[in-house]
Amino acid sequence: MKGVFPISFMLSCFLLLLDSSTALPLCLHSERPFTLNTTIGFCPYNGSTCCHSTEDEGIQKQFQLMNASDPGCASILKSILCARCDPFSAELFTVQSTPRSVPVLCNSTIPGNSSQSKAAVQDFCSEVWDTCQAVSIINSPFSPSLQGQAGGTPGNNANATKLTELWQSKTDFCNAFGGASNSESVCFEGEPVELNNTRTPMNTPHGLCLEKVGDGSYLNMVAHPDGSNRAFFSSQMGKVWLATIPDEGSGGQLELDVSSPFVDLTDQVYSDTQLGMMGMAFHPNFTNNGRFFASFNCDKDQWSGCNGVCSCNSNVDCDPSKMGNENGVQPCQYQAVIAEYTANGTASPPSSLSAKPVEVRRIFTMGLPFISQHGGQILFGPNDGYLYFMMGDGGGSGDPYNFAQNKKSLLGKIMRLDINNIPSASEISKLGLWGSYSIPKDNAFSEDKDLQPEIWALGLRNPWRCSFDSERPSYFFCADAGQDLYEEVDLITKGGNYGWRVYEGPYLFTPTESPGGNTSLNSINPILPISGYNHSEVNKNEESASVTGGYVYRSRTDPCMYGRYLYTDLYAGAIWTAIEDPQNSGNFSTTRIPFCCAHDSPIQCDSVPGSSLPALGYIFSFGEDNNKDVYILASTGVYRVARPSRCSYTCSLEKATTTPPSSPSPSHSSCCSNFFSGYLFLHLSSFLLLYIDFV
Ligand SMILES: *[C@@H]1O[C@H](CO)[C@@H](O)[C@H](O)[C@H]1NC(C)=O
Ligand SMILES: *[C@@H]1O[C@H](CO)[C@@H](O)[C@H](O)[C@H]1NC(C)=O
Ligand SMILES: *[C@@H]1O[C@H](CO)[C@@H](O)[C@H](O)[C@H]1NC(C)=O
Ligand SMILES: *[C@@H]1O[C@H](CO)[C@@H](O)[C@H](O)[C@H]1NC(C)=O
Ligand SMILES: *[C@@H]1O[C@H](CO)[C@@H](O)[C@H](O)[C@H]1NC(C)=O
Ligand SMILES: *[C@@H]1O[C@H](CO)[C@@H](O)[C@H](O)[C@H]1NC(C)=O
Ligand SMILES: *[C@@H]1O[C@H](CO)[C@@H](O)[C@H](O)[C@H]1NC(C)=O
Ligand SMILES: *[C@@H]1O[C@H](CO)[C@@H](O)[C@H](O)[C@H]1NC(C)=O
Ligand SMILES: *[C@@H]1O[C@H](CO)[C@@H](O)[C@H](O)[C@H]1NC(C)=O
Ligand SMILES: *[C@@H]1O[C@H](CO)[C@@H](O)[C@H](O)[C@H]1NC(C)=O
Ligand SMILES: *[C@@H]1O[C@H](CO)[C@@H](O)[C@H](O)[C@H]1NC(C)=O
Ligand SMILES: *[C@@H]1O[C@H](CO)[C@@H](O)[C@H](O)[C@H]1NC(C)=O
Repeated sequence: MKGVFPISFMLSCFLLLLDSSTALPLCLHSERPFTLNTTIGFCPYNGSTCCHSTEDEGIQKQFQLMNASDPGCASILKSILCARCDPFSAELFTVQSTPRSVPVLCNSTIPGNSSQSKAAVQDFCSEVWDTCQAVSIINSPFSPSLQGQAGGTPGNNANATKLTELWQSKTDFCNAFGGASNSESVCFEGEPVELNNTRTPMNTPHGLCLEKVGDGSYLNMVAHPDGSNRAFFSSQMGKVWLATIPDEGSGGQLELDVSSPFVDLTDQVYSDTQLGMMGMAFHPNFTNNGRFFASFNCDKDQWSGCNGVCSCNSNVDCDPSKMGNENGVQPCQYQAVIAEYTANGTASPPSSLSAKPVEVRRIFTMGLPFISQHGGQILFGPNDGYLYFMMGDGGGSGDPYNFAQNKKSLLGKIMRLDINNIPSASEISKLGLWGSYSIPKDNAFSEDKDLQPEIWALGLRNPWRCSFDSERPSYFFCADAGQDLYEEVDLITKGGNYGWRVYEGPYLFTPTESPGGNTSLNSINPILPISGYNHSEVNKNEESASVTGGYVYRSRTDPCMYGRYLYTDLYAGAIWTAIEDPQNSGNFSTTRIPFCCAHDSPIQCDSVPGSSLPALGYIFSFGEDNNKDVYILASTGVYRVARPSRCSYTCSLEKATTTPPSSPSPSHSSCCSNFFSGYLFLHLSSFLLLYIDFV
């Protein structure tokens, strides 16, 4: 059923998400586990772990001080303390956002015969109780007073206590520390958490079927937060429209009146090939508070509001006067802005059809060193309600000033800002903030003091389209445009360093110019991409290639695409899907898939000359509506992922109950073949070309 969902439904979904657990391997403070090439001394974690040798030694010391005399209990105690090194420790030691001193102890046996030998007899929580109940433990991690402290932080109780002195019964104990493993969470069974390696049966899609629903060229599409079948579309020049989306297969087109935009920001926005309105975001509570945000570029010579501090400054050991100009442009002539607007007016926000281009508040302004690679997308985190802001390295070939690795610079970073708690003007200047926002306490600087407090992740070149998986919001995907060789997709985690420009994707990178110095290979521990492609795979001459990130497909329209992350290349007319395999592993397998235009597409697609392949032009971005249908935003128009049968692709999961298309099918020969389009066929119309990758 489509249509306008009641707002209460929407809000309850929002609240449910707040409690959803993480499934991705993550360490206690949300960092990514790392791989050790040695076995640490005490805890039995080699390979992927959350403990360096210092933490391992600390755990050993803590264990020895506990002085558990019984060998059986000591062994269990050791395994419990060492669970902090488990690559799933974030999940083991956090239950509904509350940290705990002891991992979730499995209190039921896993169904089936997988762990017959031990667990089938007794669950692990009972085993802990039975083995340790009468054993004295100094600074016991099982003390009720330690609830709310992650990782068994030593208490100050030097007295030895037995479990029976702390808890009335096994039931009490296991109610406090027990829990079960399910598809979304894991529990601890005394050994490193093992993933369920059973592969999910894959309904491999034969191809991606597209229907063209609109003609315009947009950089952004954001579903209306009221849950209805409407979405906002914005152009690079700075206009935003509110459009009604037709049902899939209805033959309808986007209802969008070009002459009456929702808001027109073209007076503030400076647009050029690589500059313009790059992102927009609507407050999760937009239907009540009317708050929305635009991320755009401005020219300080043209607008007095374009008055940010230059990102090349002495704090980051950068001297703008020594900086080379790019195309005759002075450093920081162009700036990156996030501005807040309101849809409050005569009508309440859900029904308002326009907003005034009057800035309510400036969230962020920063001068850009060059004219390219400055990301600009903004997104609200579905779990935390913070505003994520993607920022590229600021341009120049090979990040000459090494901004992306500079922890004091905000270039080449993903930032995370709290726009719900706005500090006073004096606080903003005291803290040296770039605008009106506050810093979430658990940003990455809480683990690495060298990082600027705005930073969530670093080492990015030009994050061009990021998204949270709507069903598993701990999966935060960003495509990061590469330099000469490799286009990558990353899974973003707190404090994660994605390697640029020590690495370009999985390959070491050598800069041609390095006035800003280098970062040594050994000083970083980069997180490798989960997916990507060489330029040579899409372009014989290794010329331009630039990744455009998409979404994890969560619509039922094409059931064979369900759960797959979709992405594309700006130029190449190629589409890939990446699926996590096995589940919860953080490993993805990638396939390039053919695509084609539905026989009965509401607007007929242009074809690559001499073939039936659709010519999409440049693919700027993706969008997702409230039905979780996914859209491709291309220079030639807006395309929705449609039912596979409409392109004669077989997908056995697709229900055969759908009614035949109402509109007459244009005469097409066999629409979709299984070979790939390696062409870029340009439909030359009046759009601004966005060179994300340009130097
Ligand atoms: C781990 O591997 C890296 C790279 O292969 C190597 O440089 C380093 O010395 C190794 N560390 C140890 C402790 O073996
Ligand atoms: C990790 O430890 C296990 C058991 O101690 C051992 O079988 C395995 O070979 C080790 N792996 C590595 C990479 O050292
Ligand atoms: C540790 O336990 C042993 C035997 O149970 C006992 O003799 C010793 O005093 C204990 N050490 C401490 C520091 O409590
Ligand atoms: C569990 O093992 C028993 C005996 O080995 C076998 O008969 C039974 O079918 C198994 N159950 C499952 C669910 O595999
Ligand atoms: C340890 O036990 C003694 C005697 O029972 C008691 O007086 C003391 O307060 C306890 N210490 C702590 C830190 O609980
Ligand atoms: C396991 O622990 C959870 C959390 O306390 C509890 O809700 C559940 O009932 C327990 N299950 C069993 C079998 O004890
Ligand atoms: C592993 O996953 C498969 C498929 O999702 C499921 O059927 C099976 O029960 C799981 N096994 C365990 C031990 O969790
Ligand atoms: C949304 O706004 C309403 C009205 O201002 C407020 O009562 C409610 O708590 C807000 N909800 C959230 C999730 O912030
Ligand atoms: C919009 O209206 C809501 C509800 O009346 C109010 O809480 C909010 O502060 C207003 N926002 C702005 C930016 O004026
Ligand atoms: C940085 O590394 C490059 C390539 O290894 C080298 O040519 C250059 O001299 C280095 N620059 C500095 C400032 O060390
Ligand atoms: C990608 O490029 C690298 C470096 O040139 C090369 O080693 C690798 O084989 C290439 N991979 C593919 C799949 O073309
Ligand atoms: C993920 O992939 C890496 C590299 O191929 C492999 O070493 C690792 O075992 C995989 N992890 C899982 C959980 O499958």
